Amino acid sequence: MSQTAEFSRVIAGLATAALLSLLPQSVAAQVAFDWKANGERTYSTVCSACHQPNGQGLEGAFPPLAGHIADLAKAPNGRAYLARAVLYGVEGAITVHGKTYEGVMPPWNSLPDDQLAAALDYALYSWGNDKNLPADFKPLTPADIAVERKTQLTSLDVYGQRPIAGAAPSTAGAASGPSFTQAQAERGEAIYMKNCQDCHGGNLDDGEFGGAPLKGSWFRNHWGAGSVAALYAFTKTKMPPDRPGRLEDDVYADVVAFLLSQNGYAAGDKELPVAPEAQQQMSLKR
Ligand code: HEC
Ligand code: HEC
Repeated sequence: MSQTAEFSRVIAGLATAALLSLLPQSVAAQVAFDWKANGERTYSTVCSACHQPNGQGLEGAFPPLAGHIADLAKAPNGRAYLARAVLYGVEGAITVHGKTYEGVMPPWNSLPDDQLAAALDYALYSWGNDKNLPADFKPLTPADIAVERKTQLTSLDVYGQRPIAGAAPSTAGAASGPSFTQAQAERGEAIYMKNCQDCHGGNLDDGEFGGAPLKGSWFRNHWGAGSVAALYAFTKTKMPPDRPGRLEDDVYADVVAFLLSQNGYAAGDKELPVAPEAQQQMSLKR
């Protein structure tokens, strides 16, 4: 390339960068983001060491993403889970295609949003995974990662939010229903009335400020296929929206116990625990 051509290429690049820097960040990201540009590169430099270039993983060590990651993406809160998995890692026993993995996926929050979104999209659209995605599925964007970057979770929290069943039977034992006591649900009701009812309503489905229904079919569709861990972790990391995490852990457990009691789960003689490993054993399936 001649010097002049090189020079004008650099200038053009700078001009684009300057133009993009004038746009609000989300718009700039939309203009600039195309996962195909660096998805394969990020996957092969960061992810393929463990999940393998063909996405098959390694039995007993690293779970496959081929034939699997689309199922995660389609599950309730699945997109958020994928973003969290790459940001914070995942730690805990899981079963994929009948095989058990008890490894640790390290966090990658040192990488920028666009690279993490691109690596996930590469996996979602490779090895035939795309055939298992809904027709209206949209690739993850840097904005999807940026939102989850604010949640500040640990790899254990992420494990607790895993949206599909599949804790390893060996370590997990048979999943049981949720446990909480009547007294705990009553404490939770008082917390709810003070901190949540403005948005979610006194009746849990009649809120005024855009709060989603917290009972009935809406609740069942979002949480009924998972474990208590997912509901608890969501509530703790997202609610109340202006200051998530501001209540104590056991107070979140109380309010979750209240939500469960309002959705027809029966109180028993054991309180709802705060440990994600214990919550993960408590299935909300009926
Ligand atoms: C050092 C090895 C390693 C690297 C590198 C790695 N992973 Fe993982 N990944 C794992 C392990 C191990 C698990 C399972 C963790 C467990 O058992 O809790 C996992 C789990 C996952 C999961 C969740 C699977 C499920 O069924 O819940 C996703 C999604 C994922 N990895 C994507 C990625 C992507 C994308 C990258 C690259 C940005 C990446 N991983 C890099 C080891 C790795
Ligand atoms: C300022 C209003 C506001 C307050 C206060 C609030 N929420 Fe929410 N909540 C929302 C909005 C909006 C959503 C839906 C958006 C989302 O999922 O992040 C939501 C979603 C939820 C969900 C998921 C519902 C679903 O299935 O989609 C749960 C569970 C929840 N809130 C629990 C609580 C609890 C418990 C409290 C009190 C500790 C609380 N919220 C306080 C506004 C609020």
